[in-house]
Amino acid sequence: MSPKFSIHPNIAQAETLSSEFYENPEIFIDCKEKIFAASWQFITHLSTFNDHTIFPFSFLKGYIDEPLLLIKNEDVINCYSNVCTHRAHLVASRPCSINTLRCLYHGRNYNLDGTFKSMPGFEGLQDFPTKKDNLKSIPIFTWNNFVFASLNASIDMTSVLNDIEQRLPSFPFDDLTHDEDSSKSWEINAHWALYCENYLEGFHVPFVHKGLAKDIDVNTYETKLLENGVLQIAECEEPLEILKDPRSPSRNIYGLYYWIFPNIMLNFYSWGLSANIVEPISTQKTRVRFLSFVINEMAQPQEGDATLERVELEDQSVVKSVQKGIKSRYYKRGRYSPLHEKGVHHFHGLLADALNSSVCS
Ligand code: FES
Ligand SMILES: [Fe+2]
Repeated sequence: MSPKFSIHPNIAQAETLSSEFYENPEIFIDCKEKIFAASWQFITHLSTFNDHTIFPFSFLKGYIDEPLLLIKNEDVINCYSNVCTHRAHLVASRPCSINTLRCLYHGRNYNLDGTFKSMPGFEGLQDFPTKKDNLKSIPIFTWNNFVFASLNASIDMTSVLNDIEQRLPSFPFDDLTHDEDSSKSWEINAHWALYCENYLEGFHVPFVHKGLAKDIDVNTYETKLLENGVLQIAECEEPLEILKDPRSPSRNIYGLYYWIFPNIMLNFYSWGLSANIVEPISTQKTRVRFLSFVINEMAQPQEGDATLERVELEDQSVVKSVQKGIKSRYYKRGRYSPLHEKGVHHFHGLLADALNSSVCS
């Protein structure tokens, strides 16, 4: 059987992803297991645990919606299912600091390592408790104070993280603090992949971002393909020490824009890091969370023609326009610019490969 989606590996011969991908609700659902359950998701910063040790959250709220919780226990953070193994009530409903997790439905207790502790009314039960009565453990890892979790970790993101460490060996991750005032969440009437595609090319910068185009050198804009990721590099005239790449110190880096398949963007600037998380809601609705982390006393610039918010609203405007066009009976597929759109081509290839694969769980 020929694959439903195929992207020619040679960009000069390739056509873009079929518009059916964005329209068909079954494909949207297929992406849950084949792509998002297999991905690593950005959950939180370690500073979350300054105030509490238990942190419940939903894995991709409104899409996969898997209830999970992070537990910090003796300085180690682990992730577990937040679903009681008795009759599925949620165990923790809000961040807290306690030594025993107690389900409020019928009082089942769990230790902080997720194991079953005790349960009233279960005296005399045979073959009880067993491992099945423990909270299910979920894969997790911490990288430079950021916590990632996955339901079925099979999309490897280490090549992207290694690239960041090689290019930014002195980026002060330990000095980053979450700046709530400049963090923001939007709901956009567009498919999540259209949002990502727009991010993955700088081709549109001179057309869509007139302010940003004055700040960066569009002639040296560069796109590098990584395993399960893309890096875009924008240069400027002024040297910005914090982003100096020791391997090419003469370059004046304005921003390093890393994208991790399928939906995480880590944007490094001289003032800090903007982590953008793209969360599917429906074929026509996407939540985008901009989480701002600033270095020490620095701040995300709020004035001028190239603020993150201004650029974001310009991007949202074109993405919403594409959402209208992608439904057209007259549009099925386009072609790529080999010079400017290799990030989009890479993304489409990853999507097609994932959708053509069978899911393993
Ligand atoms: S569902 Fe949790 S104790 Fe019954
Ligand atoms: Fe843009």
